[in-house]
Amino acid sequence: MTRPASLGTDPARERTAERAVLAAFGVTGLSGIALLVLYALGGQTQLEGILLALCLGGLGVGIGIWAQELMSDELRIEQRHPLGGDAASSEAVADALLDEQGFSRRRILQVGLLGALGGLASALVLPVLSLGPAPGRSLFRTPWSKGATVVGFDGRPITASSIPVDGVVTVFPTGFAGDADAQALLINAGASRLELQGQAADWAPGGFVCYSKICTHAGCPVGLYRASQGELICPCHQSTFDVLHGAVPTFGPAARPLPQLPIRLEPDGTFTALGDFPEPVGPSFWNRALGPIEFGPGDDAPPEQTTP
Ligand code: FES
Repeated sequence: MTRPASLGTDPARERTAERAVLAAFGVTGLSGIALLVLYALGGQTQLEGILLALCLGGLGVGIGIWAQELMSDELRIEQRHPLGGDAASSEAVADALLDEQGFSRRRILQVGLLGALGGLASALVLPVLSLGPAPGRSLFRTPWSKGATVVGFDGRPITASSIPVDGVVTVFPTGFAGDADAQALLINAGASRLELQGQAADWAPGGFVCYSKICTHAGCPVGLYRASQGELICPCHQSTFDVLHGAVPTFGPAARPLPQLPIRLEPDGTFTALGDFPEPVGPSFWNRALGPIEFGPGDDAPPEQTTP
């Protein structure tokens, strides 16, 4: 039969090893819980690192000592003994006692291991807690809304007369000057050059067209306008968008057009938005709508979109 090699040979050493394993598992359990408490209290990066090292290290040390000192690597073959002999009976009784001893030790160590794994689970909860709140619909919306006046960085309304042909200016909805999600480019592309279709053309009054400034590849601001070709160029990876044809990408890694903001030219020469962008701005993400956004109650939906 097979049995722990050290059982019955050095009880003092076994007890020491057992205590060391339990102590190591205890360190794992306590440091895992301490890590969770520290995180809940505001966290401290260096201390969190030390506690995580103790948590993982304790588990490794405990398992290592358990395997080295308390588990058998010995192969024993029981000889067939004569039936009914007294010596055989005595050996059987001794084996049973030692088996029981091994069994109780195993139970204690298993309980210790469960405690250690509980502490480790506490430590592993932290990455989940650090994910922060779910974004909800915030990735689909920007501060643009129906009737919002188009303003510049200084918060003052932009007028058509202030943008010469081939001119471009960064704009925001009034009250949100400088907002990262809302930033857009108002371009005087010239009515005779624009080749937009359907409502996309209606959203470009007098040859002025407004696109999100956030690159649909990785979110850099698309700030370079090559007027001679009517192209917007992203400086990060050179994605190029055809302004005259709905800002569709013609070069580079961007896979979808810059969303067009529906705008109206007011009689006083200023611009107002007809609603929010018809699709999410910026890089694509896991559940981005493949088509136009489905607007819910309370959303300020733009007029129905027609693909240019
Ligand atoms: S972020 Fe614009 S091309 Fe990569």
